[in-house]
Amino acid sequence: MTIIVTGGAGFIGSNFIFHMLKKYPGYRIVCLDKLTYAGNLSTLKGVMDNPNFRFVKLDICDREGVYKLFEEEHPDIVVNFAAESHVDRSIEDPSIFLQTNIIGTSVLMDACRKYGIKRYHQVSTDEVYGDLPLDRPDLFFTEETPLHTSSPYSSSKASADLLVLAYHRTYGLPVTISRCSNNYGPYHFPEKLIPLMIINALADKLLPVYGTGENVRDWLYVEDHCKAIDLIIHKGREGEVYNVGGHNEMRNIDIVKLICKQLDKPESLITFVADRKGHDMRYAIDPTKIHNELGWLPETKFADGIKKTIQWYLDNKDWWQEIISGDYQNYYKRMYGDRK
Ligand code: NAD
Ligand code: TYD
Repeated sequence: MTIIVTGGAGFIGSNFIFHMLKKYPGYRIVCLDKLTYAGNLSTLKGVMDNPNFRFVKLDICDREGVYKLFEEEHPDIVVNFAAESHVDRSIEDPSIFLQTNIIGTSVLMDACRKYGIKRYHQVSTDEVYGDLPLDRPDLFFTEETPLHTSSPYSSSKASADLLVLAYHRTYGLPVTISRCSNNYGPYHFPEKLIPLMIINALADKLLPVYGTGENVRDWLYVEDHCKAIDLIIHKGREGEVYNVGGHNEMRNIDIVKLICKQLDKPESLITFVADRKGHDMRYAIDPTKIHNELGWLPETKFADGIKKTIQWYLDNKDWWQEIISGDYQNYYKRMYGDRK
């Protein structure tokens, strides 16, 4: 079995590669990654020498390069994690989101059509459903919830989802889609809420909470997401969408306070800054389908997962210090410099 994992030098893709190499010693895993600002080869250093692993630096939009890789590897499965993934960056400049997230997805699926594939899996997000109101805790996203996006990021992901389903209907491509809630865990890029707050708190820097901090996200430990994708590519039904989430809703402000507590830092570091444009209020997944059909349930409780995550950032300072010492500084100044 050969699996091409795109975006495997990023947060979730790398965790997925570690999970697969460990669980399936007979599988060949080929990581295709463009190594954008979010991709980090040092993340993969522990598997680079594994004979079942190959890394290829490539853009999923590069049709010729992608076709060549398919000719070389004859993959059985493609799992597409490659994406521009940060909402704030998509608000700043949508164009690369459309290019990678939509066009790149179509190039990968064209390669699957041309060379044949057992399964094409699209890693999508719960953000394609838009948001839910804070005063209706009874409402959840199901697979039938209409797509209703808010940001250029979520719109590009929803567009890709529609294309994936169209390739299934029109060309009979054997596809599946997973729509997961917010992940957290090791190797999470420091521009996202949880790692940003851990790293700022460690440096006694201000902790910038958007708006009132009441926005709710449904957090899932990254390993649980990887296990869900593993189940879907092996046992999920073709043409189906599976929501992935663990009924673990938290307000942003409560997460930031928890991080302060765990690191023994004062809450006075918390600063409320200008809200994100079009900021989604609440995400909440109903995971009934994946539970009933595939037996998936999240295994890591948030209280344990957040402790493990904080410990990982304490134990792996080299990994993130290298990142925040580079171009990240310019990003941080642009995003937070005069944000009042
Ligand atoms: P990430 O930003 O950490 O990693 C993205 C990876 O894709 C990087 O290694 C980057 O170099 C690579 N990449 C970007 N453009 C590329 C291109 N054109 N060609 C090849 N590689 C390219 O993202 P992540 O948080 O690991 O998210 C992975 C996927 O999961 C994304 O599709 C995202 O939409 C989805 N998702 C993320 C979350 C979350 O909470 N992080 C939740 C649900 C779904
Ligand atoms: P993020 O990690 O960017 O994920 P997403 O926008 O995909 O859910 O943000 C999670 C939440 O945290 C979101 O409501 C925005 C908020 N947030 C802050 O309040 N401050 C920050 O500095 C960041 C990066 C995010």
